[in-house]
Formats: sequence, C-alpha cells, structure tokens
Amino acid sequence: MEFSVKSGSPEKQRSACVVVGVFEPRRLSSVAEQLDKVSGGYLSNILRRGDLEGKAGQTLLLHNVPNILSERVLLVGCGKERELDERQYRKIIAKTISTLNDTGAMEAVCFLSELHVKGRDTYWKVRYAVEAAHEQLYTFDSLKSHREEPRRPLRKLIFNVPTRRELPVGEKAVSHGLAVARGIHTCKDAANMPPNICTPSYLAEQAEKLAEQYSNVTVERVTEAQMEELGMNAYLAVSRGSHNPAVMTLMHYQGGKTDDAPIVLIGKGLTFDSGGISIKPSDGMDEMKYDMGGAAGVLGAMHSLLELQLPVNVIGVLAGCENMPDGNAYRPGDIIRSMSGQTIEVLNTDAEGRMVLCDTLTYVERFNPETVVDVATLTGACVIALGPHATGLMSNHNPLAHELLNASEQSGDRAWRLPIWDEYQSLIDSPFADMQNIGGRPAGTITAACFLSRFAKKFHWAHLDIAGTAWRGGKDKGATGRPVPMLTQFLLGRANSETD
Ligand code: BES
Ligand code: MN
Ligand code: ZN
Repeated sequence: MEFSVKSGSPEKQRSACVVVGVFEPRRLSSVAEQLDKVSGGYLSNILRRGDLEGKAGQTLLLHNVPNILSERVLLVGCGKERELDERQYRKIIAKTISTLNDTGAMEAVCFLSELHVKGRDTYWKVRYAVEAAHEQLYTFDSLKSHREEPRRPLRKLIFNVPTRRELPVGEKAVSHGLAVARGIHTCKDAANMPPNICTPSYLAEQAEKLAEQYSNVTVERVTEAQMEELGMNAYLAVSRGSHNPAVMTLMHYQGGKTDDAPIVLIGKGLTFDSGGISIKPSDGMDEMKYDMGGAAGVLGAMHSLLELQLPVNVIGVLAGCENMPDGNAYRPGDIIRSMSGQTIEVLNTDAEGRMVLCDTLTYVERFNPETVVDVATLTGACVIALGPHATGLMSNHNPLAHELLNASEQSGDRAWRLPIWDEYQSLIDSPFADMQNIGGRPAGTITAACFLSRFAKKFHWAHLDIAGTAWRGGKDKGATGRPVPMLTQFLLGRANSETD
C-alpha cells in the first residue's frame, strides 16, 4: 500500500473518498464542518436524523454529497472530543482502514490525522496511522490453498496535515511508519510460521534473505560444531534432544563509524519449546512455536533499521534452537559448564531460554558492545504479572532502562520495569553448582533475569520479557510484531543523539 501527505481543503479533494471525523454526540469536526458548509448542510442534516451518534469506531459512508468533488465521504465516529487519546485514535484508524478496505474506494484522503490527540503531534499521528493501516491489512495465509483476496482493496492513503509547513514532518512520519511496519511484517511472518518449517536454519535463511536485499548488512551462521569449540555447552544442552540442529545467526549492520562500539540485540529463538524432559502439558502446546518470538522481533527490528539506514552499528543475534524430549536430551539434575565457566544445575529442562541466552551473552562479549538488549519469551510468570499489555523490562543500568521505557512510550509498544535487586539472587543458589536454572514460583520473571544478569557483567544490559506480548492466543491468534516498534524507536533515539 502507498502512503503520502498533503495539505489541502476537504471539499477540493478529487478522490474516491474523503475521511472526516464526527464527535459524540453528533458534532461535526472542523473539517467535517467545512464539507457541511459547501454541501448546504448535507452532513448536519444526516446527523440530525440520528444516523450517526459519533461513538468511537462508528462509520457512515455517503455517496454523491452535493458540491463535493470526491465520490464518497466517510464519516468516522471519534467519540467525545475531550476524551480523544491514543487508544481512541488507534481504534478510529483501525476501523477506518477496515471500512475503506470493504468499500470500492481504492484510494482515500484522510483528515483524521488533523484531529487533536492528547499529547501527540502531527508526526506521531501520521506515523501511527501508517502502522495501524498495516496492522489492519496483515494476514498470514501463505499456507492456505485458497487465499481470499479483497475485491477492490485500498491501495493508496493520503494523510492531510493542517499546514504546508507540516508537510516535511508528515513525510518523515510516513517513511518511519513504513519502516516500522515492514519490520513488524517480517517479525510476524517468521513468528507465525509453523515449527516444522520455521527451524533454527529457517531463521538463518530469513536473515540471509534480508542481506540479499540490503547492502550494508552481512550474515554469519555459528553452527553446533563451532559452538562446541567455543564451549557453549548450556546452549548445546538444550539442542541435544532435537533433530533440527541449533544455529546462532549473526547480522552485522554497519551504519556508524567503523570503531563505534556496537549495540547488540539478542533474540531467544526457540523454534519449538516442548519443555524437553520436563515436558509441558499438551493443552495449547502449539503456541510454543512462538517461543522464537524474540528472534523474530530482532529480525524485524533489523529490517526496520535497514529501511531507515540509521547511522549506528548494530549486531542482531538470532539464538535459534529447539527444545525436545529424546534419549539424548539434557535432563533435570545435569550440571553443565557454560561458556563463561560458571556451572549450572538443571532443575527443569523447560527453563531452557536462559540456558541458550546465557551462552549467547557470553559469546557477544567479543564485540565489546556498548549496549546489549536481549528479547525473549522467557517466563510464563511474566504473563501472570503483566498480562498481554506490557513487556517486562529489567536492566543493570538505569539510564538504559529509562531510554527503553521512553522508546516504548513514544512507540505505543508498552513496557514496565521490574527490579532485579541482589536480594533475589539467592533464590537461584545451588548446593552443587554455581547456580541452578530455576528459582521456584515466587518472582519467576525476576529470577530468570537474575540468572541472565550473571552473564551480562561486562556491558550495559537490558532484558525484555515478551512472553505476554509477542503473540495473541484465542480466536484471532497470531504474532503481534512486538517489540519491533520499541526496538526501532530505541535505535531512532540512538541515531538522533549521534547526529545532534
Ligand atoms: N517459553 C517458556 C515461557 C512461556 C510460557 C512463554 C508460556 C509464554 C507462555 C519458557 O521456556 C518456560 O517454559 N519457562 C518456564 C520456566 C519455569 C520452568 C521456571 C515457565 O515459565 O513455566
Ligand atoms: Mn520452556
Ligand atoms: Zn521457552
């Protein structure tokens, strides 16, 4: 789909459709008022008759409005004007896109980007609308025999901004929105792919595909044989029960100066997590194909970054692996020496994410990173704590935590910080090894992060637990594309401080 911005008056648009807002109760927005005037009170008449209350998400499609050059006018309910916040705006835009997609209009000029949304500027409103449009239009149907194509899908959406002076900022918003949307798309496609197709090597292939499309990224695979050489025994222990070999994929993006220390993004890439010998209950086990959501998020953020070509150095790491029960699988009771030299007593083979990530954290020390952010569907406890709305954020460096929280706030991809105080560390003390891989039921998300923190001493580090946010279960199940918006925003922020 194509997006652009312009600055004009609604009655002068020669388009298949103009989209304007109506507030509750039955009040025209100022743009709608302009149309009303030109059309001799056509719109206010309709409202008076009670056809549209103006509740958020209501719509009314009109044809042949007198003296209006466009073929259609779409009235969109925006709720109470004083209550128009981000959530409401999101709902309105989503409804607008789906309505437009169902009508015959293949192109529209949207004036909703001129609405006053609490605390948000034109850049945000346009960018958010671009992302929301893509969100509405996404489907994962590549494995269906018969795909349903909309008859006359929406092809072009033009956002109107109040003044010509705001055109450049509108254009920037469109290009940033598109970059984020592409990253989200890549993330969702990878995450939704079933585990018989999406294996650790498949993740590597997706990274290699990106490298074919963009010039300043190179992809490297670390194989099981190489991991063995390096002593990545914790990572390999998890993989031992699977016939699909583990692959750790590295994506090197050079946008900054050669000697700038890189930002490293690590994604947990469990292409299926059965739990291993500590096997999970079978109910809903299919959802554990999403246990590579962290890797998908990093892949998606790398795609956004490649679109944006930001002046920063970033290394994306997809820690691909599969956790299966087998005669050769690792077992509860095993003590494993990690790449760092620290020993781990395995008490539950289902706490496998931290086993894979701890060696990955040690591996990336070689890049002398400025910052490391790992992203993982790490704990069911995080779903219990924060539900589907916020990603769990933990960090050993306050400024980094605040930077990420800001990025999440700005992008609408919410996160909430949890503490990793030293007091929690004793919960993973082991009588026989340096640590054990579980800490029991209390503070499960925090003890998992405490485990990882023991391998993240050499750099500023943050951990994002996306167990509750990476995918939706139930009727409209599917990957959400999170935390691509937050990560991309974080990188945009870093790039800005570079050029300031
Ligand atoms: N991938 C799961 C975490 C998970 C569970 C994410 C449900 C989303 C929904 C992880 O590998 C796991 O199994 N964690 C265990 C840890 C426990 C054994 C300490 C969990 O959360 O139950
Ligand atoms: Mn598990
Ligand atoms: Zn897992």
